[in-house]
Amino acid sequence: MGEVKQTLRLDKYLADLKVGTRTEVKEMIRKSRVTVDGEITKRPEQKVHVGTSEVCVDGEKVTYATFEYYMLNKPAGVVSATSDRFTTTVVDLIETAARKDLFPVGRLDKDTEGLLLITNDGELTHRLLSPKKHVDKVYFAKVSGRVTQEDVKLFAEGLVVDETLTAMPAKLEILKTGDISEVNITIREGKFHQIKRMFEAVDKEVIYLKRLSMGNLKLDESLALGEYRSLTEEEIKSLG
Ligand code: URA
Repeated sequence: MGEVKQTLRLDKYLADLKVGTRTEVKEMIRKSRVTVDGEITKRPEQKVHVGTSEVCVDGEKVTYATFEYYMLNKPAGVVSATSDRFTTTVVDLIETAARKDLFPVGRLDKDTEGLLLITNDGELTHRLLSPKKHVDKVYFAKVSGRVTQEDVKLFAEGLVVDETLTAMPAKLEILKTGDISEVNITIREGKFHQIKRMFEAVDKEVIYLKRLSMGNLKLDESLALGEYRSLTEEEIKSLG
């Protein structure tokens, strides 16, 4: 996950950094507003070396952030996508992003809350989402119906959810039982509506769902719904 040596066209470099659209930055370059290593350039295709070239716009240095990592406390009502014509996306909520190529690591349903990692680091994403890596994801759920020890056993054994999904063994911890039960559940997969479907298979309904952690990364409970922060260096390292 270290620094990647990258060479980019100048117009792409500036557009990635949201200095302007590709057309706008070409215009800035044409108007001699951009320097590379102290020299005015008029060529949008000029190569720029990330980390070593010094690029200035109107005399102000622009720095190229290679990777960004954010932890979002996702609120209900926003979709886990990069853009959507009608609905706010999780990426829209990252207002201070330096780059415009961020995406969420996996998906939470529109009505699910909690921990969502947002980055532009594709390799890390692949490692975290690969089923072979078995990254534990812990959720808190409120469930309509009485969750029983029998459910704990069924979940631990690997529940047959329907013809398309047999869940891998999942750890179910009952926090409160009654007409509405509260549980923590740990799963290693991330199939579509997985937890909701697992409870449906035992005749119960998830009425509230919140992700608490993903691998070593825990939701920072000081973040209100919709708030986010950058990951610390330690958190980034702990993701492996
Ligand atoms: N399982 C679900 O059913 N929904 C989510 O958002 C995440 C896991």
